[in-house]
Amino acid sequence: MPDAWRSDTRDSYDADALGYAEQVRGLLDRMPYLRASLAVFAEAVRDAGGGPVADVGCGPGYVTRHLQDAGVDAFGIDLSPEMVAIAQRDHPGLRFEVGDMTDLDLADHSVAGVVAFWSVIHVPDHAVPGVFAEFHRVLRPGSPVLVGFHVGDGTEHTAEGYTGAHISVDTHRRQPSRVMDWLRQAGFAIQAELVLRPDDDVPGAVILASSAT
Ligand SMILES: C[S@@+](CC[C@H](N)C(=O)[O-])C[C@H]1O[C@@H](n2cnc3c(N)ncnc32)[C@H](O)[C@@H]1O
Repeated sequence: MPDAWRSDTRDSYDADALGYAEQVRGLLDRMPYLRASLAVFAEAVRDAGGGPVADVGCGPGYVTRHLQDAGVDAFGIDLSPEMVAIAQRDHPGLRFEVGDMTDLDLADHSVAGVVAFWSVIHVPDHAVPGVFAEFHRVLRPGSPVLVGFHVGDGTEHTAEGYTGAHISVDTHRRQPSRVMDWLRQAGFAIQAELVLRPDDDVPGAVILASSAT
């Protein structure tokens, strides 16, 4: 793990895992458009033949759980061992493992879908093309990827976690057009773009794309 951003991100989520998990508890219940995007994604997984789906940067695992409840064979991967421990605690019976989206421990064409909800936000620009190339490598041809992120420009540094713990993590905001360009360059075809609360200071966006057949 030579890049400082990865070790800083891992250590920060390790230090603040409990605080983050509490912060997002019940989030999907309050976010109908996010649930809708996951429903469309689940349908795309089924349409492409089904199979295992990786929730990359799964955090406390509630998206993995939601997908399982929607009939998708989802498992979670996260850089932070403490976050993975919380996901395992909160969702016993589901599969969660420590892993790095820049170098996924998954075989080529081995998964039927990839979800990355607000996890690529910590990946610096220079590393995003490599991450999307990894998603494309592990996906079966014609399978969907769903990427969620903060819309905007620039990078915010956070030095204090939800529990007051000292952390050091960068969060990158991006324009959807830029994320879609990176996805296209990695070999994906864009299927849909959804901007959430576009009048907020920091809107969210979800992009659904599919790997080449
Ligand atoms: C803002 S949280 C999002 C968690 C969850 N997906 C959600 O929507 O609540 C970002 C997560 O991405 C993980 N993460 C950051 N960089 C990663 C990497 N290189 N590989 C895997 N996970 C990573 C962090 O550990 C953290 O759990």
